[in-house]
Amino acid sequence: MTLVPTTTLPDTPTPAVDAIIDRWGANAEFAVEMLQDLQAEFRYLARPALERIAERTDADLGRLYQIATFFKAFSLTPRGRVPVRVCTGPACHAKGSARVLEAFTRHLGVQPGETTSDMQYSLEGARCVGCCGLAAVVTIGDDVLGGTDSSKVGKLVRRYRKIHAAAARGAAGGDVR
Ligand code: FES
Repeated sequence: MTLVPTTTLPDTPTPAVDAIIDRWGANAEFAVEMLQDLQAEFRYLARPALERIAERTDADLGRLYQIATFFKAFSLTPRGRVPVRVCTGPACHAKGSARVLEAFTRHLGVQPGETTSDMQYSLEGARCVGCCGLAAVVTIGDDVLGGTDSSKVGKLVRRYRKIHAAAARGAAGGDVR
């Protein structure tokens, strides 16, 4: 298992959480919207952040957890910067998606539902993503890749790691292209 240990969970600074709460008028009626903003900003819903929302809006903490666990868009553990989704719908299943998913677990070193230790990639199985004619389909970030088979996965992972490392270097150096 490569779940991120609690001690290394990314921080969700209180001022940043407060800014989100203020954006919605500290009104518990907008709890879902606050959670959406938290998820977008931190890629997960940290317990201290949920507690802060409960404290400042008088929302029930248990209710916030219900919302957080009901909607698939929310996660209580950090998600990677780039979601990797392997379609496991019927058309993709017929084209070997189980082997594709297994290849991703090997090359990324995580199981479905987990995030790589560098917080770059989260791996998930997905229901039909709506382009069955391209089976087997994998999405990496916003890219939709058709005709994927398990033998291509290693090369794909290496290619995307290079692309994302270059993008990170560009962002750090401020010279985007
Ligand atoms: S089953 Fe995979 S895209 Fe439809």
